[in-house]
Amino acid sequence: DAALEQEAENATIGQGVVESNHAGFSGTGFVNYNNVAGSYVEYTITADQGGEHELTFRYANGTTTDRPVSVTVDGGSAQTVSFPGTGAWTTWQTRTAKVTLKAGANKIRATATTANGGPNADKLSARLLGPVDTEPP
Ligand code: GCU
Repeated sequence: DAALEQEAENATIGQGVVESNHAGFSGTGFVNYNNVAGSYVEYTITADQGGEHELTFRYANGTTTDRPVSVTVDGGSAQTVSFPGTGAWTTWQTRTAKVTLKAGANKIRATATTANGGPNADKLSARLLGPVDTEPP
């Protein structure tokens, strides 16, 4: 389901630029977050069903310093996801987080929490882990 993923370069960018100078990205490029706390990429993920999903962020961090981001769904409660160094800006790895998505469009915002900004962001994918239990007990 293509709607369960979005390239960062097609997402909404708050303080960052699309670049393509470090090979190995998917799509047409990646987002270079501005090196400032508060810079963000907001992805739209359209889920077929509501329920718990695993998010997979593909990224590169050519430094040796973690670039943690705060992840929210539709502006809800935040969780911090760590993006440690990958060894080079051309070495792309993934980190995951679990969130509850609703059926339909969900806005998943990944906001830098340190003055270094976020890692270089390639794409976000989601997969359904389990549907929401709507049966009465
Ligand atoms: C370098 C690198 C960028 C990266 C930046 C950073 O300039 O080329 O791709 O985004 O460092 O530290 O954020």
